[in-house]
Amino acid sequence: AHNLQGRDFLDFADFTAQELQQLLTLSLELKLKHKAGVPYRPMAGKTLGLIFEKASTRTRVSFEVAMNQLGGQAMFLSGRDTQIGRGEPIPDTARVLSRYLDGIMIRTFGHEIVTEFAAYSSVPVINGLTDLHHPCQVLADVLTLQEKKGKVQGLTVTYVGDGNNMANSWLIAAPKFGINLRIATPPGYECDPAVVAQAQQLASFHGTELLLTHDPILAVQDTDMIYTDVWASMGQEEEQKQREQDFAAYQVNQALAAHAKPDYLFMHCLPAHRGEEVSADVIDGPNSVVFDEAENRLHVQKAIIVATMV
Ligand code: CP
Ligand code: NVA
Repeated sequence: AHNLQGRDFLDFADFTAQELQQLLTLSLELKLKHKAGVPYRPMAGKTLGLIFEKASTRTRVSFEVAMNQLGGQAMFLSGRDTQIGRGEPIPDTARVLSRYLDGIMIRTFGHEIVTEFAAYSSVPVINGLTDLHHPCQVLADVLTLQEKKGKVQGLTVTYVGDGNNMANSWLIAAPKFGINLRIATPPGYECDPAVVAQAQQLASFHGTELLLTHDPILAVQDTDMIYTDVWASMGQEEEQKQREQDFAAYQVNQALAAHAKPDYLFMHCLPAHRGEEVSADVIDGPNSVVFDEAENRLHVQKAIIVATMV
């Protein structure tokens, strides 16, 4: 059994720096094992449920493939086609599904839905994205940073754009990995205040820098990595037009990236909108590692599954 056996993976706040480092190490080990063609099937006979109340390409496919590679099975459960979409209480759904499944991944709207589900589930619950956090993605991003730069401690990461779930998860993850973080959002689109307060405490505890600003050029100055995400997340589509105006000065393009280190990395969780939050020449350019990031979703999720369920 692993030291995280039985634990939920909902929010980086629940893990120590050492535990997160262990997950990163395990991710790399499992990636190398897979690339070397060494079979590893500790999930044989086990099933991971995948509940989706929002759309997904990467999360669904990477979790299904992860379970397949680990010798187990994944079961896709659409919110719409289950009783979840017809109002069956979360506590009942969680207790029922725990009797069948060995672990449950959920992608949903409010973060409190996932925490309530986890409170009633007797098997590990993995956050596959909520409006507040997307920890699987940021763990994949940190693995990518580690691979490309040979280390993560002491590096500077700059997030430009909406103070959304991606930015929130970076706020908690960065100090725990020893990463300096800068976030530039337009006024009115700042990160969740409770997450910011948590992050400020963590940054002072771990001795990392944290800069929250409205100035993208200041934030990008000599940075090692520029990260961005869509201007309107799932569920905010009706705000798209207003947001395009409010975010116009926050596009990650060559002019902005010129302020970063010459060997800066560009990351984006995807899906991306070229010509909005990022220019095509940046996301398709030589500094972009977006597809390595996407691949690493598979490897880190295998590690999360193995660490919590084997
Ligand atoms: N980055 C990410 O979570 O992608 P999907 O929405 O396609 O799962
Ligand atoms: N911020 C985006 C991320 C998608 C992976 C959303 O929540 O829709």
